[in-house]
Amino acid sequence: MDVSMKRRTLLKVIVLGDSGVGKTSLMNQYVYEKFIRHYKATIGADFVTKELHIDDKVIWDTAGQERFQSLGAAFYRGADCCVLVYDVNVLRSFETLQNWHEEFLKQVDPADTEAFPFILIGNKIDIDGGNSRAVSKKRAQEWCAAKGNIPYFETSAKEDYNVDEAFLCVAKTGLTHE
Ligand code: GTP
Ligand code: MG
Repeated sequence: MDVSMKRRTLLKVIVLGDSGVGKTSLMNQYVYEKFIRHYKATIGADFVTKELHIDDKVIWDTAGQERFQSLGAAFYRGADCCVLVYDVNVLRSFETLQNWHEEFLKQVDPADTEAFPFILIGNKIDIDGGNSRAVSKKRAQEWCAAKGNIPYFETSAKEDYNVDEAFLCVAKTGLTHE
């Protein structure tokens, strides 16, 4: 089988971000259309797949807890897109995006670092009707602009708001990268 063709039709998407920001919830909402209120920490890394009209992708959910944060280069190899997630109500989860971004770029092929497709998601915008936000939309957009115009989405995994839109962009962005 032609390897390049295979790569183009099966996107490897890696989701990163601090523990509790809602990575697993976003994926569950996107893939199964379900929201689970009860928090259960992801252990190591898990993955689910979803067939899309536009393409197939394999999404790698990861654990934000520090004791699992050394997944290694093998895990990141061949990634087509990286989704960074933070919680708009938790400043620290926004500040650590820098580390997640750097850590990811360290693991991918250096030839790729310049134009590697990232997407940023600011999750949990439903909480307190937006009154407990710790990071403004403008601040997040500025961060994205400084990182080479990363697409930015604000979502609620709980209310199923903007989740499909964000993941559709993941497919498009991952496909243009080759
Ligand atoms: P780790 O696996 O530890 O890295 O965490 P995670 O990023 O996968 O977080 P997870 O999806 O498990 O969500 C953590 C908690 O936040 C859970 O109790 C979810 O129900 C809740 N949660 C996730 N997304 C939202 C959201 O959009 N709105 C609200 N209100 N709660 C959310
Ligand atoms: Mg999780």
